[in-house]
Amino acid sequence: MAGRLQGRVAVVTGGASGIGAATGALFAAEGARVAFADLDAAAARRQAATVGHGSLGLGVDVVDEDSVMAMAGAVREALGPVDILVNSAGIMRKAWVKDMPRALWDQVLAVNLTGTFLASKAVLPDMIAKNAGRIVNIASIAGKVGEPTASAYSASKFGVIGFTRSLAIEVAKHNVLVNAICPGPIATPLGEQGWREGAEIEGVGLDRIMTRVNGRSPLGRLGTVEQVARMAAFIASDDCDFTTGSAFNVDGGIIMT
Ligand SMILES: NC(=O)c1ccc[n+]([C@@H]2O[C@H](COP(=O)([O-])OP(=O)(O)OC[C@H]3O[C@@H](n4cnc5c(N)ncnc54)[C@H](O)[C@@H]3O)[C@@H](O)[C@H]2O)c1
Repeated sequence: MAGRLQGRVAVVTGGASGIGAATGALFAAEGARVAFADLDAAAARRQAATVGHGSLGLGVDVVDEDSVMAMAGAVREALGPVDILVNSAGIMRKAWVKDMPRALWDQVLAVNLTGTFLASKAVLPDMIAKNAGRIVNIASIAGKVGEPTASAYSASKFGVIGFTRSLAIEVAKHNVLVNAICPGPIATPLGEQGWREGAEIEGVGLDRIMTRVNGRSPLGRLGTVEQVARMAAFIASDDCDFTTGSAFNVDGGIIMT
């Protein structure tokens, strides 16, 4: 049976690790040719080699417009015009606002929010020319609720949801659907760094932080990268063709608490 993404060309930023790596792998299993694009070019190439199915691994810094344009050009040349973009590149840095260095704020906003804008801008011409396309922005449940010590991260993710809604309206006439996913806590390098930094800042043990994180959702457990990848595959597929500007929670129900 043909996969749901048969023949599509997909770019996944942050594709070397965590949610991006799992999403790219699932897209390839669903028949897409996937470009894993990441700041860590070597890890992106390793992920592409592991996944196979004609995948491509390449370096990109989503904060640098020239780098993003070069990445989109390389994907176009190797795989063809882009049908699907997943913006998964992201960083998490924690600090109380009263202590937060300006540089920390700028860096988090640059990667998580400006990076999402730049990668979208780079692939939109392909999608507009085809009169079809999907953009899936990995936001966070922190884009819907506040998180002490994570104000920069939370602000960046609220921003991603605002960007998603605005772009969705802009490109609806071109049949480009733009949606976001809001995951709850997931054990990835980003998640684990956030929990470690949280323990340091609050001056408590990591075990105390983990008890809180695990108990935060009504389902009472962490999520997995595969759960997010499955939502991304649904949004990118023809099964989801009358939804745009939405932000889907994959959060164990945190939003209700
Ligand atoms: N893990 C969680 O708990 C969680 C929860 C909600 C949302 N998210 C979001 O999911 C997305 C993926 O995070 P993850 O948990 O898989 O983390 P991860 O650390 O496993 O992966 C993030 C990837 O982004 C890459 N990256 C960082 N800066 C980059 C840049 N400037 N240019 C290109 N690539 C860059 C990293 O090299 C890394 O491979 C992020 O946007 C994150 O905010 C994660």
